[in-house]
Amino acid sequence: MQRPFLSALMAAVAVSACEIPDEPPLSDTITEGFGIVVQNPEWPIVHNRYMNLYESGGGDQHLYLSPAGAYAFDLVLTGGIIEQDGLFAVINGEYLITDNTTKLFMTERADPMAIFQPVYGCNPDTDELQVELEFVERRGDGDLPGGHICVRSAAGERHEFRWSPPENPAWDDERPCIPVSLVIDRSEPPPIPTPSGSSSIIIPTPTGPSGPTATPDIFADVTSEGFAFVGCAPEEGPAGDGIPTRTLNGELYADDELTNELCVQYCGSRGYAYAGSEYGRECWCGNSYPPTRQPGNTLADLAGCNMRCGGDDGQWCGGGGWMNLYEACGENEPCVNAEFLPAAKRH
Ligand SMILES: *[C@@H]1O[C@H](CO)[C@@H](O)[C@H](O)[C@H]1NC(C)=O
Repeated sequence: MQRPFLSALMAAVAVSACEIPDEPPLSDTITEGFGIVVQNPEWPIVHNRYMNLYESGGGDQHLYLSPAGAYAFDLVLTGGIIEQDGLFAVINGEYLITDNTTKLFMTERADPMAIFQPVYGCNPDTDELQVELEFVERRGDGDLPGGHICVRSAAGERHEFRWSPPENPAWDDERPCIPVSLVIDRSEPPPIPTPSGSSSIIIPTPTGPSGPTATPDIFADVTSEGFAFVGCAPEEGPAGDGIPTRTLNGELYADDELTNELCVQYCGSRGYAYAGSEYGRECWCGNSYPPTRQPGNTLADLAGCNMRCGGDDGQWCGGGGWMNLYEACGENEPCVNAEFLPAAKRH
């Protein structure tokens, strides 16, 4: 007889399932530090690995699965936003059309935030009660509710965190972005990896005249790529005009090995009229920018663009809140960089 068997089975399942407390929703603010373990028992390659921070240059942190980087056990959740020391988990950039996912990383700047809600769940291995961070929405630039966090293999045998939008029709079999649960963890942090396995941005050692001690030219000349230098433009935020919009808001390409050539090639190949390198590793594209962000024309106005490019420390790639702005040259026009006057003396 089948029925008794089935109901006995159901009863057994019910008994073994951990009990989800019947109480009001958990607060979306968690002040006691925590780490995050990811779970997806169907994918042993990622199951029960830790979410690590991995320095990406310019103060941002990549989010990678252990063992790359260092385990973050001092995260807090503030109104649904994962935070550590003034860095926030955001979703922006490195969009890939093959799987339609976007990067999740930590920054202090105003990119669209990843919003989470703590919920109870049952540990798939031990059946213990656990608290998971359920993804709620990507907030900013028009809120996008839903979707999920996934991890996907990245350069250097690492796995990086990404966001997949709701009902994402794309899936890349070659490089699947594996959906994961993010589980609050307060176990003893794993040992700090040895220096060789750890994590810092690798800046290639330049050779020749623009060695590491040389100061780069005041800007990189990329007219051979069809873009002329405009100046060092303020970004939103403290350096800008107080208006919370990006100076170039078309597309972001982020790359630890960024150069100004790569940036103008990226934006140029997508038909954008402007390209700007920022923070050593970010490349912003757009077709216009607010007049209040027009760069000045003295040498002193270049001061904010003081970060070397991740891919070439003989070039400047913007700064914190500043970008090296380039404009595509017209087809039948000369391609000429802006000129910069000596600064007026200050008394
Ligand atoms: C990406 O996902 C969204 C659904 O959230 C869908 O509307 C869009 O067409 C997808 N784009 C690609 C390139 O798959």
